[in-house]
Amino acid sequence: MTYPRELIDPIIAKNADFDLEGFVFGNGDFTPDIMLIGEAPGEVEIRTGIPFTGRSGKELDKTLAIAGLTRDQIYITSIVRSRPFGRKMMIDKTGKKIVKRPNRMPKTQEILLHAPLLDYEISQVKPKLIVALGGCALKRLIDNKMTISESHGRVWHGKIKQIGSNSKYVASEQEYHVFPTFHPAAIFYNRKIATDLMTDWEKLKEILAKKTF
Ligand code: URA
Repeated sequence: MTYPRELIDPIIAKNADFDLEGFVFGNGDFTPDIMLIGEAPGEVEIRTGIPFTGRSGKELDKTLAIAGLTRDQIYITSIVRSRPFGRKMMIDKTGKKIVKRPNRMPKTQEILLHAPLLDYEISQVKPKLIVALGGCALKRLIDNKMTISESHGRVWHGKIKQIGSNSKYVASEQEYHVFPTFHPAAIFYNRKIATDLMTDWEKLKEILAKKTF
């Protein structure tokens, strides 16, 4: 997907006010039934320029296979399109101080900065079903109070959040179907969710087969 330059350029310029680097475009079929929305690219994605090509991408591919989906049937993007990085002081093997820049979750202001891009993509892709990968995507799309643990594996239907004037979120005109599930990387931190995560993607397969959305 190409974005209007007047939309993208000011956002990329403002990345400099935050600890955000690079830019990864959405990827996949531009007229799919399903749109996957993740959190933000990591180090690998900034290098490849393709969403979910690192460690969490391998997990995502496993779950897509459970639902009988391939990447060319879906569109994948994220709520923030640049890599949020932290700063961690370390000592290397020679005893020299170095600063590492690990991946981190996007902050509220960073999500707000990139919000017009996600709104634009949703308006172009017109997905029949949005899969929200993880709490950040869920909160950005529906409600800050919602959690993945309470809402995963069921289709939610209603108006989603979009950026309005004054940089405040407003309800979209159109209603959408959203299927919240765990972010693929969640499994690295919490193995206990493995069964729930797989069940979600099995449910998604049923939902897609029955077209109950
Ligand atoms: N997490 C995301 O949300 N997107 C990526 O592209 C990689 C990891």
